[in-house]
Amino acid sequence: VERSYIMIKPDGVQRGLVGEIITRFERKGFSLKGLKLFQAPKELAEEHYSELKERPFYPELVKYIVSGPVVCMVWEGPGVIASARKLIGATNPLLAEPGTIRGDFGIQSGRNVIHGSDSPDNGEREIALWFKEGELVEWTRNRTHMLAFRAEGRRNL
Ligand code: GTP
Ligand code: MG
Repeated sequence: VERSYIMIKPDGVQRGLVGEIITRFERKGFSLKGLKLFQAPKELAEEHYSELKERPFYPELVKYIVSGPVVCMVWEGPGVIASARKLIGATNPLLAEPGTIRGDFGIQSGRNVIHGSDSPDNGEREIALWFKEGELVEWTRNRTHMLAFRAEGRRNL
């Protein structure tokens, strides 16, 4: 199954959007496999965005990512990489569609609330970068709890 590294950036945490963002991924149906609040060291932020090293905004981008705690997440499910990028919206929040996270909550590329992996290979690279062995949980999301509850309800009718 596919996995994506999703990260709520410092502006998302500061603005109190953590619950809202997690809700959107849960509602969509993906499974949360890892979750932590984390103050990233500069070296990690640099490595995460190493593909953008030559871009003029790179130093500013690294500063932004380490400016406060981030929420690191691993979400799993079929097609999660592409689907997460749809939920997140375009890089520039002014161009992101309403209904997407960036479209609903942002106005500048330099403060765009959330990160999502752009390919399965980068997803695995980023998960290995941000999570240690043992921090991810192996579990299956299913409806057992809900179904058991309904069966019990019926018995009581
Ligand atoms: P991520 O999910 O964070 O990787 O964003 P993305 O894949 O939509 O965009 P990309 O990987 O091209 O850029 C990474 C991040 O760099 C963006 O999310 C922005 O935070 C930042 N960024 C991109 N373009 C600009 C820019 O023109 N100015 C500034 N200040 N930041 C930018
Ligand atoms: Mg990217």
